Amino acid sequence: MKDYLEFFGLRDDPFKITPDASYFFLSESHQEALSSLRYLLETEEGFAVVIGEPGTGKTLTVRKFIDELPPNEVRFAYVLFPNLSPEELFEAILEDFGIKSEGETKNRLFARLRDLLIEEREAGKKVLIIIDEAQNLPTETLEELRILSNLETGDQKLLQIILLGQPELEEKLNSRELRQLKQRITVFVKLRNFTEEETKAYIDYRIVKAGRGNVRINPGTYRLVYRYSLGIPRLINILMERALMAGFVDTTHEIKPEHVKRAGESIGIRVGGENTLRTLLYAGIGGLLIAGALLMGAGKLMDYISLKSAQSIAHIPAKVIGGQDIQRSIKTGGRVIVSVPMLNMRESPDRNAPVVYVLREGDELRVLEKGPETWLKVLFSNGDIEVKGWVNGKYVRD
Ligand SMILES: Nc1ncnc2c1ncn2[C@@H]1O[C@H](COP(=O)(O)OP(=O)(O)OP(=O)(O)O)[C@@H](O)[C@H]1O
Ligand SMILES: [Mg+2]
Repeated sequence: MKDYLEFFGLRDDPFKITPDASYFFLSESHQEALSSLRYLLETEEGFAVVIGEPGTGKTLTVRKFIDELPPNEVRFAYVLFPNLSPEELFEAILEDFGIKSEGETKNRLFARLRDLLIEEREAGKKVLIIIDEAQNLPTETLEELRILSNLETGDQKLLQIILLGQPELEEKLNSRELRQLKQRITVFVKLRNFTEEETKAYIDYRIVKAGRGNVRINPGTYRLVYRYSLGIPRLINILMERALMAGFVDTTHEIKPEHVKRAGESIGIRVGGENTLRTLLYAGIGGLLIAGALLMGAGKLMDYISLKSAQSIAHIPAKVIGGQDIQRSIKTGGRVIVSVPMLNMRESPDRNAPVVYVLREGDELRVLEKGPETWLKVLFSNGDIEVKGWVNGKYVRD
């Protein structure tokens, strides 16, 4: 599976998308985020908020920050998937500090946290609570966090809180209910996408980190990766990894724009389709890979990018769907259900057409029209949104 690394003489996969702090690239924006977090720790001020679109490097930045924390001076709790009530969040934090506290009341949990904070302070330690994906925190829980952050002895705060989240978090913080919390924010940074120069430097940096090998990048390649990815690191990684695989398939050490094009096609990216790209990003790249893989069929490139690799990135069970003859039973005006984990809805009945929406398994669609081959024009609505587009009928059931 990883023969291509050997072919390029690389020690390691330069564009793996797991957050590995040893690959941390200091763009201006990441540098600013990192220094702001260090500043928060030094000044012992209340809240830091880091906002960035999916894949811009929030999690990796905080990993890097954590790696550098002086172990004897700071204790921290790191909470992920925080769609949690105040009680659940307090329990999760306590658990991270090694304290079991199931089924206790909110007041009791709060008291326990307070005691822990006082103890740590007396032992001369700072306490840090880091909440990733904080856009999922309910308003009520955010408000409880603020109350917790008010705890102090003398005039010293007992803890500092770092919230990392997608732009939705900023919207939440602007709401009336959370205006008090907003006033407590002392560090507010936004991670921005890489510029074109940064994209180039980033690609070179990661290749060098992975051993340099004999990879050559055609100048046009950088430009195209930048256009496709809009400078979002996670997308750069996905594109570059696939472009390398495409180069390997062509047995060339020079990665050319055509390899990037093939990489882009395999995940449904088209130039200029910024909205499409954002839809895909928010729908989750993992799902996108699977949907892309399922829709693309087995091209030459796909031989090397098995569904399994998409699956391991996505943590979603991928299903391989065989040709089905449900087509005959599908009727215009009827309803069908998406039968794969994610399914791209496209602008026209063509697997290269721009993606207008990413459907999930179980979504119900109304069939508006039967198109060429197995294509179906469908309507999806769920109260909030209503979208029309084309899906491949192989991946739905009735
Ligand atoms: N500054 C950087 N240096 C090196 N790699 C980076 C950097 N920023 C992002 N990446 C790469 O992009 C991937 C995505 O970054 P990360 O998971 O931190 O994004 P995120 O902002 O937390 O996204 P999400 O909102 O989806 O959680 C990382 O795993 C890493 O491979
Ligand atoms: Mg993250």
